[in-house]
Amino acid sequence: MNGAPDGPALRHVHRPLPHDSGIRHVAGAALYIDDIREPDGTLHVALGLSPAARGRLAGLDLAAVRAAPGVVAVLTAADVPGRNDISPANADEPVFAEGEVLFHGQPVFAVVATTRDAARRAARLAAFDIAEEAPSLTVEDALARGETVLPDYAFGRGDVEAALAGATHRLEGVLRIGGQEHFYLEGQAALAVPGEGGDMLVHSSTQHPSEVQHIVARALAIPDAFVTCEVRRMGGGFGGKETQATQWAVIAALAARATGRPCKLRLDRDDDMAVTGKRHDMRADWRVGFDDDGRIAAYDVMFNARCGCSADLSQGVVDRTMFHADNAYFLPAARIATRRLKTNTVSNTAFRGFGGPQGMLAAERAMDEIAARLGRDPLDVRKANFYAPGRDETPYGQSVEDTDVLAALVEQLEADCDYRARREAIAAFNARSPVLKKGLALTPVKFGISFTLTHLNQAGALVHVYQDGSIHLNHGGTEMGQGLFIKVAQVVAEEFGVGIERVRITATTTAKVPNTSPTAASSGSDLNGMAARIAAGTIRQRLVDFLCETFDVAEGEIEFRDDRVFFGNESLAFAELVKKAYQARVQLSATGFYRTPKIHWDRAAGRGQPFFYFAYGAACAEVTIDTMTGEYRLDRVDILHDVGRSLNPAIDIGQIEGGFVQGMGWLTTEELVFDAKGRLATHAPSTYKIPVASDVPADFRVTLFPSANRQATIYRSKAVGEPPLMLANSVFCAISDAVRAARGDGLAPLDAPATPEAVLRAIVGAL
Ligand code: MTE
Ligand code: MOS
Repeated sequence: MNGAPDGPALRHVHRPLPHDSGIRHVAGAALYIDDIREPDGTLHVALGLSPAARGRLAGLDLAAVRAAPGVVAVLTAADVPGRNDISPANADEPVFAEGEVLFHGQPVFAVVATTRDAARRAARLAAFDIAEEAPSLTVEDALARGETVLPDYAFGRGDVEAALAGATHRLEGVLRIGGQEHFYLEGQAALAVPGEGGDMLVHSSTQHPSEVQHIVARALAIPDAFVTCEVRRMGGGFGGKETQATQWAVIAALAARATGRPCKLRLDRDDDMAVTGKRHDMRADWRVGFDDDGRIAAYDVMFNARCGCSADLSQGVVDRTMFHADNAYFLPAARIATRRLKTNTVSNTAFRGFGGPQGMLAAERAMDEIAARLGRDPLDVRKANFYAPGRDETPYGQSVEDTDVLAALVEQLEADCDYRARREAIAAFNARSPVLKKGLALTPVKFGISFTLTHLNQAGALVHVYQDGSIHLNHGGTEMGQGLFIKVAQVVAEEFGVGIERVRITATTTAKVPNTSPTAASSGSDLNGMAARIAAGTIRQRLVDFLCETFDVAEGEIEFRDDRVFFGNESLAFAELVKKAYQARVQLSATGFYRTPKIHWDRAAGRGQPFFYFAYGAACAEVTIDTMTGEYRLDRVDILHDVGRSLNPAIDIGQIEGGFVQGMGWLTTEELVFDAKGRLATHAPSTYKIPVASDVPADFRVTLFPSANRQATIYRSKAVGEPPLMLANSVFCAISDAVRAARGDGLAPLDAPATPEAVLRAIVGAL
């Protein structure tokens, strides 16, 4: 299955080069927003947050705030010269609350002061007059009130009711799936520096510099061209900075405009957790009909998604839940429906997997329920339902062209991890162990790659070659730790046949590459790698043409490698060639532009080919639970994951490990609790438990599945950023398997996250 290499002797791509900032990360030399040396006179911004979750904002007395020491300015909705709105598309999310408050912690005003401490102290002195109303907090509240942020949406195929009625077996269930806090290590931050004539430079920790640029301009009522957004790197984004960085950039820019001075806004951790959106929590109500082999005849599912107070990215996120409701399974008849519920909680947003994990977890739950009903091994039920030739069309009409990849991958993982023998050993262990019980699960991942909003699948790059042969690389993607920059630099080094150290990686800025898409949907290297290759290729072609003219050689004889260019019996150092080309007035700078081919999506019809290709993977997890306490331990994890022909195996394995552990946190220990007033009770690491080093399984085996992408992606690689998160479904299913062993009477209801409390409750009934 190993695909043919794109050309002979690739020297930079496919190699495990270290992350370009790896040493700087650990040495503390990598600059984040708060590390940028503050320009002289920088002021600091703190927020005044709503003390109520829902109500009319009848009055706001800011006299004491204005009079507090160090305060230079106070900003409210009235101080926004342009549109008081940060929403990307729906005009439903104010910068500062106006007229009504929508959630507890919603920004109502901002204080600008000489120090951060002075700003924070002053912000507490406001007197709010809010006519409070009972907030709508849960899925059930919103269903009862019928409040939504976007219209209901469904797609599917076939006569589901008839297929359910005609099926040999039927099951139904309700699965609650919790949300998740991003917990990026660098919190939300922005530094706005005013320039002459209304110019504004905004340093923002954002995955979407172009959107920050546009919305800052819109709020300030100035043209886009007056605003530049720059981001060197983020200390993690995970989807939490796709739209949710905008508000802080806008407020910093408003403050800079109002005071004429540089202004910085950095949220502290508690505020960051309370005022930024999270993964959507959902309630999945599902029904399934199947035969004696566990083969599904019909699947009917409704995802009730808590979107929070505004639409934000809920259209795309919840659509992706629908696109992944099948996971890897063929559904002959399906109805996949969604409600996008409005609640008085922070607006939920992108989070690694972008809604996909919720869709897939419900499917995995259905698989486990089917297996339990039939008394079969869940892996056999899963395999019986895999997409296969003749059973290869998704409920939205895209055909799965490479059904053999997942089949082969799961076959190999099953053998490599000794699944069948361990299944028997675990049954034997459970038979003789009354208190500790083990569980095992092997689950697949199929994840669609492309933005489902088709127009976002485009990217630009800008490459300069200087006279000394050094190369300046810029593209529209942002670096959030995922290794995008080194991958794209590898592509450019490959194109010129030069050492990677010649390629200078630079900050993303809207002034160099315009109209960029967010770095999201795992498509960063697919899109920007291609755009950069095209830009570099343009310059390389000019150098080739120059060589042909000057040295009378044929194009086919020219080879760029080892920092030289070889032609006929001669060679030149790359830098020498560049200098000669410059003197001959050859242009040594180029842009590149790429758009993903083949994809289309008709949302109204619910049909199309939204994804360029699918990425696959599978994981097998073994857990031990303590039936007295509900505590558990992850004993061993085996992962086999498909990244096509990896651009950089070291980076990719890091993404797989990190994604898996983040997914494991979502499904096990990370629990968001809102109190009856709509306050986030879990707003700090003391009460919100993310995985730590000691939660990584002691026996953790990660292998790349050797297979070239069948689509012509950059060097036949596949996207890796999000898909591995969903490998953690295996942990949830393994815990559920252990609970089943503990009870001895079938599968107990178990919701996500499967915290120790939830596990104990599942074992012994209500606590
Ligand atoms: N890895 C690190 N270290 N930090 C991050 O913030 N974000 C994830 C993933 N991996 C993230 C990460 C998310 S949500 C996405 S969409 C992709 O990286 C985005 O980058 P890519 O498209 O370059 O893979
Ligand atoms: Mo990732 S959730 O698409 O930023």
